[in-house]
Amino acid sequence: MKRPYIYVTRKCSEEQLQPLYEIADVEMWAEEEKPCPREVLLEKVTNADALLTMLSDSIDQELLDKGTQLKVVANLAVGFDNINVQYANEKGIVVCNTPDILTDTTADLTFGLLLTSARRLIEAADYVKDNQWKSWAPLLLAGHDVHHKTIGIVGMGKIGQAVAKRATGFDMKILYHNRTRNEEAETTLGAKFCRFDELLTSSDFVVCLAPLTKETKNLFDLEAFKKMKNTGIFINASRGAVVNEEDLYQALVNKEIAAAGLDVFLHEPIQADHPLVGLNNVVAFPHIGSASLETRYSMMNLCATNIKAVLSGEEPKTKVTI
Ligand code: DGY
Repeated sequence: MKRPYIYVTRKCSEEQLQPLYEIADVEMWAEEEKPCPREVLLEKVTNADALLTMLSDSIDQELLDKGTQLKVVANLAVGFDNINVQYANEKGIVVCNTPDILTDTTADLTFGLLLTSARRLIEAADYVKDNQWKSWAPLLLAGHDVHHKTIGIVGMGKIGQAVAKRATGFDMKILYHNRTRNEEAETTLGAKFCRFDELLTSSDFVVCLAPLTKETKNLFDLEAFKKMKNTGIFINASRGAVVNEEDLYQALVNKEIAAAGLDVFLHEPIQADHPLVGLNNVVAFPHIGSASLETRYSMMNLCATNIKAVLSGEEPKTKVTI
């Protein structure tokens, strides 16, 4: 019997993909630095029984229509806004993601970004490296305190809750806004549910962890930023399109808010000459929320296990349901 063919759209650890090599012919986009071009993916999908995809690959109707043998798409991310899940499901194609295993790693990065933005850690490190440090001074690179402040988390899913848990260690007051109440976060972490507006006006740190959906697209616009405190710091570790970047730029330049820490952008990779990146009060990271070796290896392995399950006629561990 013909072995299934699996296409992996980015260089991954072959060791972690071992479950796939056991059952299928696996081909991987080999260039470390460059993503698989769209035209290559459009060609590969025509023979593929499974795809292991990245959040930067657009798995849209056109691509899914070419995948006449396609049975499963396993996305190396918890987010799946790059995939037309509804259309895939209509065609009987299973979509899988990598929830849970990246929760703590992403929460660590999100809280790290908050600390970095508040205490101006990148500016401080660059100050020394650039040989600018001439003397100690009372207000040299003075930032904002984090401890005992109010954090407002928009999107209180698992990662939001893990960020809230970290915030308790800093004696922070925790507010959150979410589609539904998170009773566990309320009872175990003392998080208080509030309206979006109320969260914006009351928080010192507004942390966006909401998934990108029709409802959350451009949720953070000028109106929202104007409601934040002038000393407020905005952190985004979910998806860039949840924010209107031009409005964020205006809010930062006009001192409607004090600073922003961004791990995600509307167009990734964002370029160094982008107006947002040039601002001193912006910390920009290259979408590294879940990027620890341990977690990325676990994510690769989970994708492989999910694909193997579907191709073997079994239920995958983490299927996306919408
Ligand atoms: C995800 O998994 O969706 C994250 O954005 C990756 O870091």
